[in-house]
Amino acid sequence: MSGSGPKFVWVNGEVLPADAPHLPVTDRGFQLGDGIFETLRAKGGRCTELPEHVARLRRSAAGLAFELPQNVDAVLADGIARLLAAEGLDGPGADASVRITVSRGVWASRGLLPPRDVHLVPTIVVQAWPVEPPPAGHLEHGIALVASRIRRDPQNPIVTLKTTSRADYVYARIEARAAGADDALFLTTAGHLSESTTANVFLVRTAPDGVLELATPALDCAILPGTTRSWLLRWAASAGLRPFEGLLTPDELATADEAFLSSSVAGVLPVTRFNGHPIGAGVPGPWARRARADREAVFGRG
Ligand SMILES: Cc1ncc(COP(=O)(O)O)c(C=O)c1O
Repeated sequence: MSGSGPKFVWVNGEVLPADAPHLPVTDRGFQLGDGIFETLRAKGGRCTELPEHVARLRRSAAGLAFELPQNVDAVLADGIARLLAAEGLDGPGADASVRITVSRGVWASRGLLPPRDVHLVPTIVVQAWPVEPPPAGHLEHGIALVASRIRRDPQNPIVTLKTTSRADYVYARIEARAAGADDALFLTTAGHLSESTTANVFLVRTAPDGVLELATPALDCAILPGTTRSWLLRWAASAGLRPFEGLLTPDELATADEAFLSSSVAGVLPVTRFNGHPIGAGVPGPWARRARADREAVFGRG
């Protein structure tokens, strides 16, 4: 069973039926996870922060030493628009999550090392789905996180890239499910907070000088530099919270007033339990609600 889903997919410039075969099995993305991706929100057919996502896609490609077409931004904008139209996700009120996946391309030889003297043509795919609202309980009661057994090494040059090699993340999600939690939180090798499997993490806490802070792990804590994270750090100052980026411990999460996760499609989600214990009052707090509402307003009404 492959599940029901979108009717179309955009592959290398063409909108194709979703259930047709699309890629050779020799695609290095399939064989090796030698690829990168982005996920973003498009409301009313308008992509939110597309330039930021394309910039991060370029950064991921550069990190894996492969080249994207010069005009990849125009190619993607056109591909997304055509796919959203085909799926009927471009009208007023439509709300879509869009995934861009790019692999290094097709290469029939075995082995890890990409050829130096042959220019592989990256495989570029766009998919789109209607945005599912979070399960009601997630907003009402908040979500539960558990620390993953997988540690993230801030020295690992791959760890901050959005590659399609997601086995660690899949493993962590399975760990979370086995523990009865909604998501897993990665810690760094030194034991500091890093990020969840698909989102950055934030705490609201009172600093020793009495100032209310919005705190999040720094960029050198083996995190993806989230687009929503950047937005929230700018938002904090205007909302009356002092932004803090640095080293945070599991104890600081456990004793925070509030916590939440942030990502492009799911937006801001309150976190109310960590490793089986309540955070703050154990219910979504006012800052998480306000951050969510303000972030949702960025997407517009579609
Ligand atoms: C591992 C990870 N961290 C953080 C994020 C949040 O990034 P953004 O806010 O750009 O969606 C994502 C989202 O895809 C992610 O996969």
